Amino acid sequence: MILTDEQRATFHDQGFLVFPSYFTDDELVGYKADMDSVQAQREAKEPSPYLCQLPHLGKLIVHPKTLSLVEEVMGPGFAFHHLHASRQGAGTPGSNWHQDYEQEPQTNRSHSMVHVFYYFNGLNGEVGDLVVLPRTQKTVIANGALSHLGQQVLPGEIVVDNLPPGSAVLVYSALWHARRAKPGGEDRVRYFADASYCQAGVKWPSYHNAQWRDILAAARENLGHESLFAEEHFFDVREAKAAWKERQGSLALDILPTV
Ligand SMILES: [Fe+2]
Repeated sequence: MILTDEQRATFHDQGFLVFPSYFTDDELVGYKADMDSVQAQREAKEPSPYLCQLPHLGKLIVHPKTLSLVEEVMGPGFAFHHLHASRQGAGTPGSNWHQDYEQEPQTNRSHSMVHVFYYFNGLNGEVGDLVVLPRTQKTVIANGALSHLGQQVLPGEIVVDNLPPGSAVLVYSALWHARRAKPGGEDRVRYFADASYCQAGVKWPSYHNAQWRDILAAARENLGHESLFAEEHFFDVREAKAAWKERQGSLALDILPTV
């Protein structure tokens, strides 16, 4: 077990947990090297492999510590949703208040989804701070419903701006959070990645790009873990969104018995 009973209780109550120095220095060298090579390919407009195909970032998805952590908070049986990785430097814009729980449309929180935020170079108050609003993970709102708040200070928020290299933050995906832009960062690039996982038992919206099935297939081929990367956990999010966005009135009418 990675979590103490107290940590697990705190996570369920507050909606997030911080793990300073989650990785070893050796692991960080590999993650940052992968991110540097992806960045060079993006800047050269060259095609780059899926992140799950990279030697270090791929294995990050199935890092034993992370898989244990996810299992400890949501139980056995879960799906990988996505991995993002981006190098952020001076002037990188922030990200407005939002939540990342996947559901079409947003109606309940019956099953858990978590994100793990990775800060390979730590957080030092430059570029952007992670801000979270504890205990908002049970509130059902659309992902972008908070964007009018921008990155302003909200009562009760927690600012995470001081973490050693290789730290991780586990959050309920539905927790309200933002990256509040900060000055600085000219001398210290931010290496940020996030991975997310969905509790098995319901079908989840797929990743939002047309290659989601290919990405899962590549992950199965490179990393094993058939059930973690199984297509059956998902439906195509773009088809589903198109289907309900045009609807008028209450979707609940679709499941009421006819009278
Ligand atoms: Fe987010």
